[in-house]
Amino acid sequence: MNRAAQPIGVFDSGIGGLSVLQALRAELPCERFVYLADSGNAPYGDARGDAFVCARTHAITRYLREQHQIKALVVACNTATAAAIHEVRSSQPDLPAVGLEPALKPAAALSKTGRIGVIGTRGTLTSDKFSRLLASLAGQAQFVVQPCDGLARAIEHSAALPLPNDPCATETRALCARYISAMGPFGTEAGQIDTLVLGCTHYVFVADELRSLVGPQVRLIETGQAVARQTRRLLHKDSLLAPEDSATEATPFIRLLTTGAIEPLQAAAKRWLKLPPGCCGTVAIP
Ligand code: DGL
Repeated sequence: MNRAAQPIGVFDSGIGGLSVLQALRAELPCERFVYLADSGNAPYGDARGDAFVCARTHAITRYLREQHQIKALVVACNTATAAAIHEVRSSQPDLPAVGLEPALKPAAALSKTGRIGVIGTRGTLTSDKFSRLLASLAGQAQFVVQPCDGLARAIEHSAALPLPNDPCATETRALCARYISAMGPFGTEAGQIDTLVLGCTHYVFVADELRSLVGPQVRLIETGQAVARQTRRLLHKDSLLAPEDSATEATPFIRLLTTGAIEPLQAAAKRWLKLPPGCCGTVAIP
């Protein structure tokens, strides 16, 4: 099969990257996608450490290349990007790879008060990559950085709740409230945080909860759409954009796989992407 008709691999520690997949589908409707949730090993960002996250990223990339012949990789996880994207790029220079980082630059350009909140996993926010990003913007804005231990895990668990249950379970709510209140006043007055960067793909699924805590005037910034546009640019540059007829019954548009239990992935796929349970499967990736 011609390379442009092959799928794009998308990977996250769990269901968080589905928020990026949503944006990718909207930007690239002719593309096929294989999504890999490493839920059997989530969360990555609280205490796993770089070596573990790097090893998982390599194993998953190898699996997606060998079993699904992906033509490009989107690392839909800030934590894995911070720990491993440079190694993926240097060890596999023939694979176009897009990573994610907290959207500090767009936030600095948009903020009026110059005070910006950043929430993410401890892994992301203590990484060298993030320190370099912060340093590159020194003097342009003040960043209030808050690691949210436990929040990605709580969101991952709340995905297992069947509808019509509130997707924002009690623990998720309590964690959002605790971390937002630890960051200081939000608002549009001088000295207040007027922009909140969602530096973890899981957090997009609790954006409504966060918005109700920080107030309607505070802007929430996530990276899904920017990543989708960057993926399009990269594919275009390498002449890898899919032909219109690339999906068939044997090679469907979307396949969602998990290394953990299938039910939370099926529930999340239905709730957030309106995809049927048959799109989902399990896989073991040692
Ligand atoms: N969704 C991931 C991120 O964007 C990581 C969540 C986790 O596994 O800790 O950082």
